[in-house]
Amino acid sequence: MQMNYRETLKVNNSGNLEIGGADCTNLVKQYGTPLYVLDEKHISDMCAVYANSLKEYYGSGKALYASKALCCKAIYSIVRKYGLGADVVSGGELFTALAGKMDAKDIYFHGNNKTEQEIIYALESGVGTIVLNGEEVDFLNDICGRLGKKCDVLLRVNPGVEAHTHHYIQTAKTDSKFGVSVSDAADIVSDIMQKENLNLKGFHCHIGSQIFEIKPFLVAIDILFKFIDEVKRSLGFITKELNLGGGYGIWYAEGDKAASLDDYKDFVKQISDCVKQNIEKYNVEKPYLVLEPGRSIIGEGGITLYTVGGVKDIKGIKKYVSIDGGMTDNPRYILYQAKYSALLANRADEMPSETVSIAGKCCESGDLIAENIKLPPAKRGDILAVFSTGAYNYSMASNYNRNAVPPVVLCKDGNSRLIVKPQSYKDMARNDLDY
Ligand SMILES: Cc1ncc(COP(=O)(O)O)c(C=O)c1O
Repeated sequence: MQMNYRETLKVNNSGNLEIGGADCTNLVKQYGTPLYVLDEKHISDMCAVYANSLKEYYGSGKALYASKALCCKAIYSIVRKYGLGADVVSGGELFTALAGKMDAKDIYFHGNNKTEQEIIYALESGVGTIVLNGEEVDFLNDICGRLGKKCDVLLRVNPGVEAHTHHYIQTAKTDSKFGVSVSDAADIVSDIMQKENLNLKGFHCHIGSQIFEIKPFLVAIDILFKFIDEVKRSLGFITKELNLGGGYGIWYAEGDKAASLDDYKDFVKQISDCVKQNIEKYNVEKPYLVLEPGRSIIGEGGITLYTVGGVKDIKGIKKYVSIDGGMTDNPRYILYQAKYSALLANRADEMPSETVSIAGKCCESGDLIAENIKLPPAKRGDILAVFSTGAYNYSMASNYNRNAVPPVVLCKDGNSRLIVKPQSYKDMARNDLDY
């Protein structure tokens, strides 16, 4: 399967790729390449699935959009419309979420090493919840004291379940810079309960990303409830909120599950059912349930369009199709050999007939977008569309080799709208000083 087709991502009657009702060849004429394109309907549908299913299957809870997946002002207008909050992990993400008119109360501030400046900014902005690592307790309590503020916190706990795509492992302790092992967490709960400036609401965990199996989530929930019961008995601590992080996977390429909206709905149902069963099992108070999806909200909603440049055929070895972007707009291949699918957007109805690798234009041999994918014979000037680039592409973009970060366009019902302007050479040199 070359793409995960849907009504708003398909090949149109002209044989071109269409997203959000917009013909990709027209988008390229209007905005140039490289170009990030987002499908507003798909992103909205995903927001609605999380918000509505939480309400339907659990009741009191909230979905937060994980800003790290793609952070720009316009995204918050969409997620807000569906009642989602946001999680942020830096002062920069917080600034953008507030500029995107998110209510500060609906923002959760994460990060394993928040700076004093970031914490002050979060507190003064009225951020609703700070998610703490164990070693941040005194630091946050002191800052709150100096500012005369009390803040709501969640403690990030590691249930010892680490999941990635189709595998998960369970360990007694997790080797991670995030959170505190569940076996060590009770002491920290006791410590936080004694801090006059911190109000511990409950716990947070995030077991991994791009996970398709429900099992690791359910195992983590069982472990967390054993802990919730333990701290209730030993410390009298009542867990009012449980945040289970993000992590549900998306389709990138052959071999990945092509999940439908109903699959995501079912994911929320199974999580909700498991939480409810545990509430009953341990006879504990029902916590407010929070989920933090990022990739599954925005990932498949995005594609990247490039113009094909040189095609290098190393006979008997490999054919490289070069594009006018690369690791600067999509570093996921060079970081962890992420898999992607692509097609020629201007000849989307042609059958793929050869195996090629997509090479970026940066001065790194590892700067590839995909290896050994099937395409029709590509030639200079063709438009290459890479799928499922909505998450962790724009947000991970860099200016390596002083390549500009591409603009972002949002499409709906055939209309397109620029939501992030293209970077100019001047923008990139703006902070350089003469010498
Ligand atoms: C704490 C936390 N919450 C949410 C997410 C979002 O995860 P995903 O994009 O896989 O849904 C992440 C991703 O790393 C995370 O670290």
